[in-house]
Amino acid sequence: MFFVWKENMSVDGGVIDDDHRHLIDIMDGLMILVSNKAPQGAVIAMMKALLDFADKHFRREEALQQASGYPDAPAHMEKHRKLILDLENYITNLSTISCAELTPEQCRERLHETKRFLTRWLIAHILGEDVKLRPYAMKMTPLASTMTQLRKSA
Ligand SMILES: [Fe+2]
Repeated sequence: MFFVWKENMSVDGGVIDDDHRHLIDIMDGLMILVSNKAPQGAVIAMMKALLDFADKHFRREEALQQASGYPDAPAHMEKHRKLILDLENYITNLSTISCAELTPEQCRERLHETKRFLTRWLIAHILGEDVKLRPYAMKMTPLASTMTQLRKSA
């Protein structure tokens, strides 16, 4: 396990946590692909799946923030836009060469680099920003209860 959802990441005990668990599952899957020296096309496809799910999740989280009167919602939304841009740029700049074609040291370095990027990209956002939503979780419940699980439609 490279990435695993932990209790200290809990925000609402509901849809946000569930989305975060799924995002972290995709990130873990990505690390497994890289460590197994999977074709780079598969790695890039999984990165795009992460981008797609993150985009849907961020919009849901933003709607929940608005519904709960979270005062920092506009600034938080800006952070989400930046995360999307960062991941888009990361995907654009990804090498087309797979780990199988690299030396073992280069492949190890790519694995570490991928983990560093994903940690900064999402784990830092959850622990640094999303946890600030905890006091508003109760107010999110009415809207959250109308939301279906995203991962089923993903
Ligand atoms: Fe967020």
